[in-house]
Amino acid sequence: MNIPSADWVNPLIQLLEAVQLAVLRLLSWAGLAGTSEGQPAWPWTVRLTGENLLIDLGQARRLAWTLGLLALAFIVLLLALLWRRRRWWLIATVPLLLLIAPRPDAGVLLAPAQPTSFHRSPTGFSAASISQGRALYAQHCVACHGADGRGGPLASAQPVWPPNLSGPLLWRRADGDVLWRILHGTHDRRGHATMPAFADSLDAQDAWALIDFMKANAAGQSLRATGAWAQPVALPGTTVRCDGRAPRALSSWRGQRVRIVLADASSALPVEDPRLATVVVRTAPRLPSTPAADCEVDDAELRDALALIAGSDALPGLQLIADRDGWLRARSGPGQAAWSEDDLICRTDLAPRAAERAPASDGLGALIARIDAEPVRFVKGGFAH
Ligand code: HEC
Repeated sequence: MNIPSADWVNPLIQLLEAVQLAVLRLLSWAGLAGTSEGQPAWPWTVRLTGENLLIDLGQARRLAWTLGLLALAFIVLLLALLWRRRRWWLIATVPLLLLIAPRPDAGVLLAPAQPTSFHRSPTGFSAASISQGRALYAQHCVACHGADGRGGPLASAQPVWPPNLSGPLLWRRADGDVLWRILHGTHDRRGHATMPAFADSLDAQDAWALIDFMKANAAGQSLRATGAWAQPVALPGTTVRCDGRAPRALSSWRGQRVRIVLADASSALPVEDPRLATVVVRTAPRLPSTPAADCEVDDAELRDALALIAGSDALPGLQLIADRDGWLRARSGPGQAAWSEDDLICRTDLAPRAAERAPASDGLGALIARIDAEPVRFVKGGFAH
């Protein structure tokens, strides 16, 4: 999104998160926080949230001023300790600073919290977890939420229409809050149940797997509907075999760009390129007569996960590029001769950019330059691009 404010709202939201997480860690370290679903539990029923700051930039600005003035007041107090002669002058400015600090609206900044609100997913967005989530979703959720996440046959019989799970919802909500809702259900303002609880049939690991599946599914739905991954999606985790060496995690390439090439039993492999690490994912076991690539994956769960994320079952010939941070950024379809900047599909604004650039002799070079120039600045609840 080309909103200049994203430059300072995202760090502000990140700061709110980080401070609260630090408080939670401190409490847990001091033995003052219990645990819930295997991680330290948030002890309060409210927490600070940045979610509303996106809608209300005026409040975000106020909050930034307040935090700035509080920090200044703190520094002045420190100075007062050190600088004896001016001590009383300095101390006198502190109430002044606090007086002029704008008061952000508590209604905007506070949100209900659950014990699991600050929990982190332990799955690493692995192909196995997405696959587990897929089976659970088909069994427990599809009737109300639908295969595409927009509502199933039972949706209209619910007290409220279930929200669209293929939109940005899962990128806005804290993962820990979604976890809680899956396990303990949701209630309306009067306390009536709106979604049933699943804690009797599912455990936390199942719920994390469901969250992974719903994200992968939402990414594919977004691609089908708009031609873009409006919400950033990570390259799923799996293990890769390279040249007979010990298997290694796909995530161990973090820091490098990775190109995933989907090849059938006999596909000729693309030429290696020094700018990318190439990993070949076979859609069928390689024929003995077909030369093996340096790094190959034979993992049905990864194939399924990629089909889900790419919103397509036509896998052989598909290529995906993940950036140095592990986000999937670009896709090239079967039969496409070369890469170009237009293959960058992890973005929100789809305005054609052809006019503003000189024709590149090397399409992949131009694409990589843009991937590097426009990193994903994903902050939960903040601006994604
Ligand atoms: C009986 C119907 C029903 C079933 C089954 C169901 N849901 Fe829901 N779900 C709902 C309704 C209704 C809402 C909206 C609740 C609200 O807004 O108060 C909802 C909301 C949600 C939300 C959004 C929560 C939020 O933060 O706003 C998620 C995520 C979700 N469901 C996931 C699931 C998953 C995963 C399953 C399967 C384990 C599932 N649901 C099964 C009816 C259902």
